Amino acid sequence: MESVSLQRPAWKWQVLSLFLLCGWGWVSGQIHYSVVEESELGTVVGNVARDLGLKVEELPGRRLRLGSEESLRYFAVRLDSGTLVVSQRLDRERLCGAAASCVLSVQVVTENPLQLFRLEVEILDLNDNSPSFPTAHRTLRIAESATVAARFPLESAQDPDVGTNAVSSYWLSPNSHFSLDVKQQPDGKLFPELVLERALDREEQPEVQLVLTAVDGGSPARSGTAQITVQVLDVNDNAPVFDHTTYKVKVPENTPVGAVLLRVNASDPDEGPNGETQYSFGVHTSDSVRRLFALDPRSGEVRVSGALDFEESRFYEIYVRAHDGGVPEMEGNCVLQVQVEDANDNPPEVLLTSLLNPVPEDTPPETVVGLFNVRDRDSGANGDVSLEISPDVPFAIRSLQNHFSLVTQKSLDRESTSQYAVELIAQDGGSPALTTTLTLLLNISDVNDNPPRFSQPSYEAFLQENNPPGSLLCTVSASDPDAGDNSRLVYSIESGQVQDAPISSFVHINPDNGNLYAQRTFDFEVLQVLPVSVVVRDSGSPPLYANITVYIFVLDQNDHPPTILYPASDSDVPAPQRVPLSAPPGYLVAKVTAVDADAGHNAWLSYRLLPQSTDPSLFHVSLYTGEVRTARAFQDSDMAVQQLVVQVMDNGDPPLSTTATITVALEEAALEESFKPQDFLAGAKEKPDLTFYLIIALAAISTVALATVHCRNFSFPKPQVLLITDCASARDHFPAWWQGIIFQLGHVE
Ligand SMILES: *[C@@H]1O[C@H](CO)[C@@H](O)[C@H](O)[C@H]1NC(C)=O
Ligand SMILES: *[C@@H]1O[C@H](CO)[C@@H](O)[C@H](O)[C@H]1NC(C)=O
Ligand SMILES: *[C@@H]1O[C@H](CO)[C@@H](O)[C@H](O)[C@H]1NC(C)=O
Repeated sequence: MESVSLQRPAWKWQVLSLFLLCGWGWVSGQIHYSVVEESELGTVVGNVARDLGLKVEELPGRRLRLGSEESLRYFAVRLDSGTLVVSQRLDRERLCGAAASCVLSVQVVTENPLQLFRLEVEILDLNDNSPSFPTAHRTLRIAESATVAARFPLESAQDPDVGTNAVSSYWLSPNSHFSLDVKQQPDGKLFPELVLERALDREEQPEVQLVLTAVDGGSPARSGTAQITVQVLDVNDNAPVFDHTTYKVKVPENTPVGAVLLRVNASDPDEGPNGETQYSFGVHTSDSVRRLFALDPRSGEVRVSGALDFEESRFYEIYVRAHDGGVPEMEGNCVLQVQVEDANDNPPEVLLTSLLNPVPEDTPPETVVGLFNVRDRDSGANGDVSLEISPDVPFAIRSLQNHFSLVTQKSLDRESTSQYAVELIAQDGGSPALTTTLTLLLNISDVNDNPPRFSQPSYEAFLQENNPPGSLLCTVSASDPDAGDNSRLVYSIESGQVQDAPISSFVHINPDNGNLYAQRTFDFEVLQVLPVSVVVRDSGSPPLYANITVYIFVLDQNDHPPTILYPASDSDVPAPQRVPLSAPPGYLVAKVTAVDADAGHNAWLSYRLLPQSTDPSLFHVSLYTGEVRTARAFQDSDMAVQQLVVQVMDNGDPPLSTTATITVALEEAALEESFKPQDFLAGAKEKPDLTFYLIIALAAISTVALATVHCRNFSFPKPQVLLITDCASARDHFPAWWQGIIFQLGHVE
């Protein structure tokens, strides 16, 4: 505790004396005490009784007490000791504020006699307050552009204590940018100021934290702090900077529209609008780039916005500019190099330069019929074109650098294939490869390289004799596989002579349809077979021919009756045959001999005795030989002269017949005069060939008849050998006209 000390400066005693002179009642002078603030309650301030010259024993009698309300508030008087003590907390700063001295006046009253005394109690300061700042946390905003040595005033700290106990100094926490300068006012007050020592950079350090400490001069010293936050305000001092000055990107052509190519990125460390970067195309950007690429102003994404075509351009340079939103704005630039890569997007093309169409069928192999080029707008392997031709065509491809020729590889034949679909398949070397197929329809034009050809190896026509002129004999037909005029056929008959007459007087042919007509009436007995050489000719140039022989067989009709050779049917009455009466049965009386100009059946003769003539029982005629013989021995009653009528009939349909009359005279004469049955044959023996042929002819007739029955549609090509074995050989070896020849021979005899 502070000890009570009495201080009595000289001038106070003079004031006290004045008080005593002018005061009412008994005044015993001015007394001055001092006490330190914040002293404990009961602390003795001074011994009032002693200082007023009162004895302790007297005190209760004198009723010593404090006189004013104000005195009673803080102090009390102890009657047992006569001391003045503190009765309430004393706070100098509250009682007196910042005044340099703080004195409270205390009135003391005694009675018996009533006296008033004035005391002064000075409250002494104690360093009981720390300096404090009005704002404990302060924010300073300083632009980063602030110049070095710029000053920024700070708030002063307050300390209610006075004198040395008041604020005496300031301290600033260590930092890299600011120092502290403290100015003293004439009244002794201190004003702290921040001084910028090193330039601020928001981008480096956007905020500086400082602690300002105020210290008073008390002992021990007290201090107070304030937190100061320096916010560095942005200034647009940074331009946007791209990650790269040159971006390179490869993009395949035909990348779809909208595909992101890449993203350019410029960064601007400034804050707010100063750091907001926007992208745009640079001023040098070409129109094609603006058409093909889109730049997002916010994100910096570069997208494809048009069709990239390697074949159009394989490289683009895009200038991109970035600018921030500061005022004035700052900008950065970069270049985007876009390399377009080839894709195999162009199929190869086959360009036909010239083509020979139609191709004549007689074109020799290795003849060039077409010229063409191939082209592919892609590059590298994508543009390497190989060319193939479809298999199974008689054409091939020959290449001369980039030029190709289409050549014939084999000989052509329009008649087998008149048109070829030649496929030219061009394929590039891309992956996957693209192909183009060009189909050429190559016509093969006709050349007259095929002669006409008859549809049958041979033709025969059979014609009944006595035909009307103009009757159709047969139709020959030929074909020609060529086309057009080369296949237009004309028929004709090769000129020649038949029986001293031109053949054209026998037959004629329709040149267009090959119908062969008879020109005249034929007579089998004159002409049995007529070979006609028919020529067919096409209309090509030169024309081609074919010929064939048509055999026209004239068929016999039964138009001749048998002709009697014996007995001669002269106008004279024939001499009667003399027959002896004694002739035995079977005696040969005569032989009727007849021939028929017709052939075959029509010439097949039979003999019979007509009944009206004589006694039918007396003679009979051999049906096939015409021999007349006696049937029985003669009797006397028989007539001496007998008339025999023998009918000779051929086998035609209808049959024709002739009769021969034989007169027989019966006589008594000897037998030796009679006609020998062998006589006729003996005469015939002089011509053995005739007999031979007659026999053959008969055999032939029957065989042909047989063959006709059994082998329908048979034909006779040519007379060859007479050897008859079976039906087939009969057909081959026995033409009908042979019969005619045989019978003609017979007839000649
Ligand atoms: C842009 O570049 C800056 C600095 O290099 C980086 O921090 C940022 O992430 C980039 N932005 C994008 C979208 O790549
Ligand atoms: C090829 O032949 C067809 C019919 O066969 C015809 O239509 C076409 O015109 C011909 N082409 C040429 C080039 O002759
Ligand atoms: C008809 O053919 C024969 C042999 O086949 C030949 O010798 C003759 O010259 C040909 N005639 C014509 C006009 O072609």
